[in-house]
Amino acid sequence: MKTIAVLTSGGDAPGMNAAIRAVVRTGLDRGLRVMGVQRGYSGLINGEIFEMNRHSVSDIIHRGGTILRTARCEEFKTEEGRRKAANVLKVFGVNGLVVIGGDGSFHGAQLLSKLGVSTIGLPGTIDNDLSYTDYTIGFDTALNTVLDAINKLRDTSASHERVSIVEVMGRDCGDLALFAAIAGGAEGAVVPEKGFHIDELCRTILAGKLKGKMHNLILLAEGVGGANELAEKVEEITGIETRATILGHIQRGGSPSGSDRILASKMGVKAVDLLIEGKTSRVIGIRGNEIVDMDIDEALALPRTFDEELYEISRILSY
Ligand code: ADP
Ligand code: F6P
Repeated sequence: MKTIAVLTSGGDAPGMNAAIRAVVRTGLDRGLRVMGVQRGYSGLINGEIFEMNRHSVSDIIHRGGTILRTARCEEFKTEEGRRKAANVLKVFGVNGLVVIGGDGSFHGAQLLSKLGVSTIGLPGTIDNDLSYTDYTIGFDTALNTVLDAINKLRDTSASHERVSIVEVMGRDCGDLALFAAIAGGAEGAVVPEKGFHIDELCRTILAGKLKGKMHNLILLAEGVGGANELAEKVEEITGIETRATILGHIQRGGSPSGSDRILASKMGVKAVDLLIEGKTSRVIGIRGNEIVDMDIDEALALPRTFDEELYEISRILSY
């Protein structure tokens, strides 16, 4: 392994910059040449690749987004697109590639490895939707962004004695909603992994009102969706004024939390060391505070897990 490259792909996540920094600086520390690829697989196909040094990643550990930019690229889903990408890497003498992204990006990395490029994936997504790892880079920061929003919504909801439905991201994963409900002291979490009954939710809301609760905060995962419709129904059934807030892309931005910076740094170092050991088609994760790696196909084939215990905790603590 003499030259490695790094790219970010799919939706951006806070902490991606910390991961890029760790890959670049570890590579240089181990005596490798390190290249950066701009705009994910799209930039790879178009040859948007440049050499990086220690200063290329100065002053970025605290920044959200990704200095390499990111993209979604349909062409890379074709065999021809991937061959172009592999050729670009060959022309620039790159033998190893670190891909920072979510499951789609990992699928791409796995297919690219079949064309002779060693690939390692780092989980960069706010969704926390990858079963093989306890946490993904960006999840903790997004959680804190949601908590900040909840604190503000609580003020206004309590003043007006309203119900507040807060829709958060996560694709078809309810982790962001569930974690935010517990950490934000919300009255409920509606997640795609669990069945949801409007009458039950309204009973909880009305019971809270009877107990003198000033506000009712309900976290709704985007995988369930329909925040506005849910707010209308809740208002109709309970008679309590209800407002919906869809937090949207604000959850993807902002300075990464300390936890995300550390996670990204540890994973970045591990990725480079695996490439040096001659490993390929692996993804890095964290399980029980230990950095682990796994075959990409095996990782992607794992069934989606849901933390029932955490869901029960949210139920117990919410009233
Ligand atoms: P994420 O990596 O966050 O899950 P996407 O699903 O949008 O985001 O995937 C990012 C990019 O990875 C896609 O735009 C595409 O270039 C590549 N990709 C996704 N799925 C595949 C696939 N099945 N085969 C090859 N490339 C893929
Ligand atoms: O995967 C990250 C994510 O922010 C999801 O939570 C969300 O569903 C999606 O990306 C939004 O994608 P886009 O940025 O294309 O609107």
